[in-house]
Amino acid sequence: MSYEFIVVHEELAPLVAGVQLNRPKELNALNLQLMGELRSALEKLDSNDDIRSIVIFGNERAFAAGADIKQMAGKGAIDMLKIDQFSTWDAIRRVKKPIIAAVSGFALGGGCELTMLCDMIVASETAQFGQPEISIGVMPGAGGTQRLTRAVGKARAMEMVLTGNFISAQEAKEAGLINKVVPVDLYLEEAIKLAQKVSEKSPIAVQLAKESVLKSFDTGLQEGLFFERKNFYTLFATEDQKEGMAAFIEKRKPEFKNK
Ligand code: HXC
Repeated sequence: MSYEFIVVHEELAPLVAGVQLNRPKELNALNLQLMGELRSALEKLDSNDDIRSIVIFGNERAFAAGADIKQMAGKGAIDMLKIDQFSTWDAIRRVKKPIIAAVSGFALGGGCELTMLCDMIVASETAQFGQPEISIGVMPGAGGTQRLTRAVGKARAMEMVLTGNFISAQEAKEAGLINKVVPVDLYLEEAIKLAQKVSEKSPIAVQLAKESVLKSFDTGLQEGLFFERKNFYTLFATEDQKEGMAAFIEKRKPEFKNK
């Protein structure tokens, strides 16, 4: 399938797929079509057994500068409600394979929120994260008040959301928003390395572990612990558990089969 605003790389590296956001002139502003394409591509990659993790990236100047302001400017509240763009975001949230955002340049508004929808974030030293919606008379709508606050805490989230100030990659790293900061020529490579490391593990264990970490955002501690425990027990029904533990005891590398 061909897309207009994204480029899909089924084999960015062995077992790793990539999706590049591709509206460079508009700094990858996330219009509805782009988000629909992204959802469709991610769902396809999620059901492809030859792929174990996915990297989303933009270009050196921008990961994404937010939702497309020109597309939103003339809309009313009921238009926005009917468009229901967040069902697309919810579908991306349900992707089972790990997704890594490789960020250079601007990750603003919906762009910052998209990085937070991913499971890990690798950034170049030039990356800037921000929720500038307040400067255009609105507020974040795709997780910028919720995921950001959980990631960086109230003080910094309030400052970013209420002033629209950007933070640097280094500040984002120190605040716990992102995983790694690397020189600009390495950000994609480092994200791929991280994806490859995850891709070596048992895919079923990775899936249930991802699901369990995400569950912590939605539940209290006790319920989350029960959820974690059930996933932990479930993994003892897999061949990969037998293989992983046998390999440890036999001092060899495990060969996981996703079974
Ligand atoms: C539409 C955008 C855009 C956006 C940039 N462009 N951001 N178009 N929506 N979010 C377009 C510009 O209009 C311009 O097009 C071209 O991209 C290059 O941008 P410039 O402004 O000329 O570049 P620069 O001077 O380097 O400034 C970069 C920038 C600035 C600081 C990132 O573009 C900016 O402030 N952008 C908006 C950031 C923002 O407010 N994001 C939040 C959006 S609301 P032309 O045709 O003029 O060359 C949001 C809500 C999410 O994300 C809700 C859930 C989905």
